[in-house]
Amino acid sequence: MLDTVEAVQLRHSRDTPARHKAALGQFFTPVSIARFMASLFEPAAARARLLDAGAGVGTLSAAFAEACATLGIGQLHIDAHERDPAVHDALARNLSAASAHVPRQFSITGGDFVETAVNRIQFGALPRYTHAILNPPYKKIHGASAQRLLMRQVGLETVNLYAAFVGLSLELLEPGGQLVAIVPRSFCSGPYYRPFRRWLFERAALRRIHLFDSRVSAFKQDAVLQENVIIALRRGAAQGAVVVSHATDDAFADLVAAEFPFERVVSRDADQVIHVPGPAAPPAADAGPRPGRTLAALGIEVSTGPVVDFRQKEHLCRQPEPGAVPLLYPGHFSAAGLIWPRPNYKKPNAIRVNAQTQRWLYPAGSYTVVRRLSSKEERRRVVAGVVDARAFPGVEQLGFENHLNVFHQNKRGLPLMLAHGLAAYLNSTIVDEAFRSFNGHTQVNASDLRRLDYPSLADLQTLGAWAAGFDAPPVQEAVDARLEGWLR
Ligand SMILES: C[S@@+](CC[C@H](N)C(=O)[O-])C[C@H]1O[C@@H](n2cnc3c(N)ncnc32)[C@H](O)[C@@H]1O
Repeated sequence: MLDTVEAVQLRHSRDTPARHKAALGQFFTPVSIARFMASLFEPAAARARLLDAGAGVGTLSAAFAEACATLGIGQLHIDAHERDPAVHDALARNLSAASAHVPRQFSITGGDFVETAVNRIQFGALPRYTHAILNPPYKKIHGASAQRLLMRQVGLETVNLYAAFVGLSLELLEPGGQLVAIVPRSFCSGPYYRPFRRWLFERAALRRIHLFDSRVSAFKQDAVLQENVIIALRRGAAQGAVVVSHATDDAFADLVAAEFPFERVVSRDADQVIHVPGPAAPPAADAGPRPGRTLAALGIEVSTGPVVDFRQKEHLCRQPEPGAVPLLYPGHFSAAGLIWPRPNYKKPNAIRVNAQTQRWLYPAGSYTVVRRLSSKEERRRVVAGVVDARAFPGVEQLGFENHLNVFHQNKRGLPLMLAHGLAAYLNSTIVDEAFRSFNGHTQVNASDLRRLDYPSLADLQTLGAWAAGFDAPPVQEAVDARLEGWLR
């Protein structure tokens, strides 16, 4: 039956203009992923009431129906919600065909699921669902939009439609009800999704998280470029260990899964950041820095470069001149180390010191910097460089542009060997893997760098003395070889 569904999907995807799909966040789940998602439910009662919010042509419901025999479900009611009337016929046909697997009834509701769900929650409409399966639309919700106001009425604050769908579906589950959803990874970290994460963990236990290691392949058909995860939640259940799995793509050929303690996956602070430990991660290590291994414990801070160039336009100069000090951009750091000034650079090389700029400048000294943006093609997410005070003789202050993060001690420079050691450590594979476990995007913010586990000051200085002995910053392989069996 799912083969027929696949054909319907392909036809619809091909015949629907990209603009229409983008406006509705309409990207259909490949059949192999739908089957995998259905396999993540645990056997429960023999009668199921399934919610499929943003149902498209019904692929997920069809996969669920197919899994009913294994789940011990003998009777199924499907509630499909789909805003786009153009797919309702195909949806109805596919839900009808589900009877090949299990006796079923179904209903299709048009309109906006957010509005329907909020109304149901507010008026306590029953019955609630035993299961929810969803691949929700991905679309930003603006602060003043009707959907945002509606959700606020039930206490859910979120910035994207996908989180709204998951949050509301979870609220519509009965105690013990299960939810499986495929969603972008963006909700796992960052302040915007913090209230949403709290909403999830207040209501449900996280049982499973699956990460597709390749950004491109999960939704081949529609060329959706983002990291996706599949989560399985159980409403009101006691939180136990979490199964974390990885596979490159929707073929699941290289699927690996391991169980991790909850604290290893979700940070214990108020941020509740969700980490997805790599396939080879040691299950014993804790999420986030170990006590005594934080940056703060080392007396080091990291801040975003304070010079926002478009706000300081009239104070910037292309080349150094009297009364101006170096202004450092990511472009000043390369595999060869720090190059300043850059002769034909498209950005300014310096900033004038005056009453307006003074407060944004750091005292001259040695610093470690990390780019805030890495390109998708870059092998590493965290790319660090060193500012060696000796490169700027006679200079009293330095400007760090906003696209850099700066490591400092109380707004002053670091001992040079410590700056080298930090940079070498941050350029290692250990850091890259730790970073990827909690950050799915290409931005590296100061808050992310504070989440890492750091070696002791003495170890960093030793590493720095080694790194400083090279003419150019040591490459990642050299750093890895130096660190092997030495730290931890
Ligand atoms: C990412 S697609 C997934 C479709 C289907 N669940 C699947 O897995 O193939 C999301 C679906 O949600 C629908 N949708 C978008 N906004 C909606 C809304 N506010 N209420 C209900 N459905 C909506 C879209 O038309 C689209 O079919």
